[in-house]
Amino acid sequence: MEMLFVLLFCICFANLIPAQDVPGFISIDCGAAEPTDSDIGLSYKTDEGFIHSGQKGQVAPEYNNQKSLQLRTLRSFPDGVRNCYTLRPNQSSSNRYLIRASFFYGNYDGLSQTPVFGLYIDVNYWTTVTWNDTFEEVVYTTSRDYVHVCLVKTGSGIPYISALELRTLDNSTYNTMFRALENIWRFNVGSSIRYRYPEDVYDRIWVPIEFVWNTINTTDVSTLRNRNNPYKVPAEVLMTAQEQSNSSLQGMEVSWTSRTPSSKWYAFMHFAEVRVLPEGQARQLQVYVNGDISVANFTPQYLEPVTISTSSPFDGTNLSFSILSASNFSAFINAVEIFRAIDLPTSQTDLNNVNAMNDIMKEYGVFRGIWQGDPCAPWNFIWRGLTCSQDNSPKITSLNMSSSGLTGAIVTSFSNLTSLEILDLSFNELSGPLPEFLASMPKLRILNLGHNNLSGLIPEALIRKNLTDNAFRLSLDGNPNLCVACTPAPSPSDGGNKKKNSVPAIVGVASAIFVLAVISVIVGFCIKRKRRQGGNVSSNTGEVAFGKHESKEATKSSSQETSSKDSSIVYDYGTLKIMNKNRTFTSVEVSAITNNFKVILGEGGFGNVYLGTLKEGTRVAVKVLSPSSRQGYKEFRAEAQLLMMVHHKNLVSLVGYCDEVENLCLIYEFMSNGDLRQHLAEHSTDALSWIMRLQVGTDAALGLEYLHNGCTPPIVHRDLKTTNILLNDKMQAKISDFGLSRAFATDMDSHISTRPAGTPGYLDPEFHMTGNLNTKSDVYSFGVIMLELITGRPAIIRDTRGSTHIVHWVNPFIGRGDIQSILDPRIWGQFDINSAWKFVEIALQCVRSTATQRPDMSSVLSELKECLAIQTRYTMRQAMESGDTTSGSFEMTSLEINVAPRSR
Ligand SMILES: *[C@@H]1O[C@H](CO)[C@@H](O)[C@H](O)[C@H]1NC(C)=O
Ligand SMILES: *[C@@H]1O[C@H](CO)[C@@H](O)[C@H](O)[C@H]1NC(C)=O
Ligand SMILES: *[C@@H]1O[C@H](CO)[C@@H](O)[C@H](O)[C@H]1NC(C)=O
Ligand SMILES: *[C@@H]1O[C@H](CO)[C@@H](O)[C@H](O)[C@H]1NC(C)=O
Ligand SMILES: *[C@@H]1O[C@H](CO)[C@@H](O)[C@H](O)[C@H]1NC(C)=O
Ligand SMILES: *[C@@H]1O[C@H](CO)[C@@H](O)[C@H](O)[C@H]1NC(C)=O
Ligand SMILES: *[C@@H]1O[C@H](CO)[C@@H](O)[C@H](O)[C@H]1NC(C)=O
Ligand SMILES: *[C@@H]1O[C@H](CO)[C@@H](O)[C@H](O)[C@H]1NC(C)=O
Repeated sequence: MEMLFVLLFCICFANLIPAQDVPGFISIDCGAAEPTDSDIGLSYKTDEGFIHSGQKGQVAPEYNNQKSLQLRTLRSFPDGVRNCYTLRPNQSSSNRYLIRASFFYGNYDGLSQTPVFGLYIDVNYWTTVTWNDTFEEVVYTTSRDYVHVCLVKTGSGIPYISALELRTLDNSTYNTMFRALENIWRFNVGSSIRYRYPEDVYDRIWVPIEFVWNTINTTDVSTLRNRNNPYKVPAEVLMTAQEQSNSSLQGMEVSWTSRTPSSKWYAFMHFAEVRVLPEGQARQLQVYVNGDISVANFTPQYLEPVTISTSSPFDGTNLSFSILSASNFSAFINAVEIFRAIDLPTSQTDLNNVNAMNDIMKEYGVFRGIWQGDPCAPWNFIWRGLTCSQDNSPKITSLNMSSSGLTGAIVTSFSNLTSLEILDLSFNELSGPLPEFLASMPKLRILNLGHNNLSGLIPEALIRKNLTDNAFRLSLDGNPNLCVACTPAPSPSDGGNKKKNSVPAIVGVASAIFVLAVISVIVGFCIKRKRRQGGNVSSNTGEVAFGKHESKEATKSSSQETSSKDSSIVYDYGTLKIMNKNRTFTSVEVSAITNNFKVILGEGGFGNVYLGTLKEGTRVAVKVLSPSSRQGYKEFRAEAQLLMMVHHKNLVSLVGYCDEVENLCLIYEFMSNGDLRQHLAEHSTDALSWIMRLQVGTDAALGLEYLHNGCTPPIVHRDLKTTNILLNDKMQAKISDFGLSRAFATDMDSHISTRPAGTPGYLDPEFHMTGNLNTKSDVYSFGVIMLELITGRPAIIRDTRGSTHIVHWVNPFIGRGDIQSILDPRIWGQFDINSAWKFVEIALQCVRSTATQRPDMSSVLSELKECLAIQTRYTMRQAMESGDTTSGSFEMTSLEINVAPRSR
């Protein structure tokens, strides 16, 4: 009888009301080929545009007439771990929504096996779908203009979804301290009819239930309807109620148990008096949860809807709500909704970052089905190619879109990723100019745009940043149409004049030498030729140190003149840097800087090195030539001369000098992290990781390669060792004390002019035979440094059996292929074996006893970069793999009352 009624009712409706789009509703028939109309008068869209992954599916024929049209198709997600629908409701009126996801398996895949998978609302776990015919519903409050509903593989079966519905609620309703409430039940008490849209303007599904009590009703539906409250419970639902059959009993109670006692519960109970009571009399009701927690004490008025809700959540294993009567009439209830709060511990990615990423995806038309849901959260579903900060509102810190088939211009949306430190867009087909904003991204330190088709001038700001910001790395290789701008940087002659103007202020003999040094740079002492330019350049493998010169002649010509040439434009970075950076200081200033020579950083052959602080707060190291040291004067002057010529981010740089007759000093950048030896020392607690060691090695190789190949004639360092490799606050390595040994002994040995340059353990064995020192001698020393990096041991290892040179110590292990014994135990477990082996191989080539058999620094450098790349890939892979475990950790609530699946 009742069934017939329902059936008739539905048919009538389908005939009377044409299906429509309701404002504030989003209705999606997942996997449908075309929009469908539902039997309740709503039209359902296909899921096109809401999701970009998954496959359409259809239930097996025997299920076709069981359920509504919307449940006959579905979308399944065999690929990817997390797949997300994006819903964009209108935000004008409210930001609270009812979101319902329906699942009707219907053996669509012929496997007859109900899949189990996770459901997420935005970035947080919502529930686990375990039934083959069910729906999940949440009341959700968002501050964004979109909501993601994500299906997550948990290991048992392929996630699927049949329908997805969003209904905008009045946001004065369902107010709790939680942003997400999972609906557990919604009962239409005392009825046998199920209601939803159109009776319910929010399309809540009211399930009919008749408890053991007496059913009562009213027929005055229209009065109920006119007097509704913001919850807008349908009059059809409120018109029936149940009351206690025996008014001498005090109350009615509904109880249930939860297996997760920590869950927080909320009850929303709807009352409207439907019984006509004697004039002047009313029922007084007391509402409690969990037996004795009072919720309300009130008197419902005739046909006047009232909603009573718990203002704070209740919890426990045994849960209940009860309605007691405080009058002579029995207690009653018309409708009830029970919710469980969903914790939302994870926060969404910063909105500006999200918008920028969406723009980027749209502009380039890439990663659509791959980059889904929130970019950074939760951390185990972070988008491929991204790393993010871990703070309250995660931001993207690195973005790798290398080899992604990007075409077109570099879009401005990148500039909104304000926390970006690393941007890799290499190996794409990006074209057009290099946008200026790249230079003003506040945190950017690695920008790789290599191997694209970019064209035009490199913005001056970017070049300047590349020059002045030591932590910034720029790669533009492989963009043949890109040319270095001839900026209004000081042309050589301008710079020269400036220096000359200051000459009168400089007193003494030494000053002339300094000026000379500056000029000699301009004439082109350190020249870096661009690789394979004009076909006449030899072995250079690449890393353009600073300054690109077509030829010596070009260096002399003004920048104006050369700017008209395209890719072979001359840009003398070295000159620019010297003019900008070196300053002269008076002895009074030096005293002020060093606070009267207060803190000694170290002692050298020339005299002491003091800590200083410039006016603008920059810390510096001040090397002072002690007046008594006549011997040192020549060497000191020469070091100054050399320092002015060589400028490279991996060579300790000169900030200024003082050159008064009795006061000679050199002022260097301060390297706050000391020297490399300290960091490798046995007792060092914060041992460098393998990837850091590779980075330090590469940095040092860059500096040395520059001395060898960027200067004409090449500069031989002659005293390379781990104590001469210094580390700044960013752990960037720089070679120090270079060039000294070209003409003189080292700092330490400078008193004994007859001693050969170098330090035992690092000295080229061939030198003993030929007395000849050349760039290959540096390569030998560098090989020893590499062995120190990987073993953590000093160049000369002293133990109970005496002392062993590191090369002899390593050799026996190599023969046995025993890399474990070579490696510093402090880096076990963090390295890629291939990068370690490759590194050892390069080191061994460097320490060959015959100089001609050793590689030159440019090939050492490129091999080292390869090691670093291998290790970087390994480290990233590790990070990604460790983030891939999603199974097993989901909380599940099992309710005794909920053991039967709900169905429509
Ligand atoms: C949003 O509002 C516009 C204009 O009022 C309407 O056309 C559209 O259907 C609405 N969309 C939703 C999902 O409510
Ligand atoms: C309701 O939603 C509107 C629109 O999003 C918002 O401006 C307002 O603050 C919300 N009110 C409450 C009580 O959340
Ligand atoms: C759900 O599983 C049961 C038992 O395997 C089966 O009888 C029923 O047809 C399935 N229902 C759907 C909708 O797949
Ligand atoms: C309302 O109650 C009356 C008598 O109590 C009953 O005859 C009638 O069927 C009820 N109506 C509904 C819609 O339940
Ligand atoms: C009502 O409950 C009281 C107390 O339990 C009992 O004595 C009485 O018999 C009950 N009346 C009916 C009609 O069941
Ligand atoms: C919950 O109720 C059951 C019986 O209904 C009882 O055995 C159990 O002890 C109760 N648990 C708590 C924590 O009160
Ligand atoms: C960057 O963010 C600002 C502020 O949210 C916005 O106004 C601007 O349109 C965004 N720019 C791009 C290119 O996305
Ligand atoms: C950036 O500067 C480094 C040295 O500081 C130089 O090697 C590199 O070539 C420069 N890159 C560009 C594109 O100018």
